[in-house]
Amino acid sequence: MDLRTRYLGLSLRTPLIASASPLSGDVGLIRQMEDSGAGAVVLPSLFQEQIEEEARAADELARIGADSSPEASSYFPAVVTYNSGPHGYLDLVARARAAVDIPVIASLNGTTVAGWVDYARLIEQAGATALELNIYRIASGPGVTGGQAEADCVALLEAVRSRVKLPVAVKLHPYFSAFGDFAQQLDHAGADGLVLFNRLYQPDIDLLRLAWKNDATLSGAGEIRLGLLWLSVLSGRLPHASLAAGTGVDTAEEVIKYILAGANAVMTASSLLRHGPGHLRTLVSGLETWLSTRGFASVSAITGLMRPSHPDSEAEADERGSYIESLSSYQGPYVRH
Ligand SMILES: Cc1cc2nc3c(=O)[nH]c(=O)nc-3n(C[C@H](O)[C@H](O)[C@H](O)COP(=O)(O)O)c2cc1C
Repeated sequence: MDLRTRYLGLSLRTPLIASASPLSGDVGLIRQMEDSGAGAVVLPSLFQEQIEEEARAADELARIGADSSPEASSYFPAVVTYNSGPHGYLDLVARARAAVDIPVIASLNGTTVAGWVDYARLIEQAGATALELNIYRIASGPGVTGGQAEADCVALLEAVRSRVKLPVAVKLHPYFSAFGDFAQQLDHAGADGLVLFNRLYQPDIDLLRLAWKNDATLSGAGEIRLGLLWLSVLSGRLPHASLAAGTGVDTAEEVIKYILAGANAVMTASSLLRHGPGHLRTLVSGLETWLSTRGFASVSAITGLMRPSHPDSEAEADERGSYIESLSSYQGPYVRH
């Protein structure tokens, strides 16, 4: 069975990618993920705030003398321990590259164009195979228009793109008003791939302590549908960028559905955090079994197989038809047709 795929212009031996999480901050676990069938691994993100904080502290030390300890002044929580910090990150990149043969994709996570972007060049020099840019911004300011939020993302991609020759992927949340055009803009600005989607931070409220809960919850298979929709809309329509699916994989079924919708690669973090790095073996063998049972010889034979065949001009009408059909199809104890 030929499980190979192409993502970011790279040839991957399987379409399964371990996405950024604490697991990929550990080189021993990265090795296990390679042994279990990962086609590539994304390292945990290095955050814009961490890079800027380190630069600020270094400036302050230089200004007031090496004996003092400058106070942290940013909103960044000091609890991020799984990404090695700016100092250790380049070392993590180099150690991961030396430990495995699969592509090692480093990750930068930020929102605005500033000096921190230069870190991309250091990551390239440290030996990363590719770079994932996680643009995680909740544009909550009253004066920020949708167009401005998109333009800021494109400008950030262009800034990173101009620093490196590496393939660059952009990881995004789905809440942009016209995602189709936005994806075209990113493709035009040099994105080699799009990761659809990041999970947006969704807080909860602790009713006992009357406090916000900022805990990370793991995803479930019910969350793949938005990704299926946009992958099927964008698959085959971007001149350059390849597509990775990003949320909700728990079993091989989600992997297969994502590929059928048009994903060139499928990422998972929650399933590996829940079941362990060896779960990749279950995902890969489930994919392989399904392909052979259905008589397909390769992953490429099913990539985008289920994408709609209508012309672009009919896409919106078709999407609306499916929406109305889904509403009408509902049946339950209180609703019968
Ligand atoms: C504990 C935890 C840590 C994560 N850390 C990062 C990170 O450093 N950078 C990043 O881009 N995404 C990070 N993510 C998001 C995942 O890479 C992934 O995009 C998201 O969880 C959706 O995929 P999933 O449904 O397979 O979990 C993290 C997720 C979890 C649960």
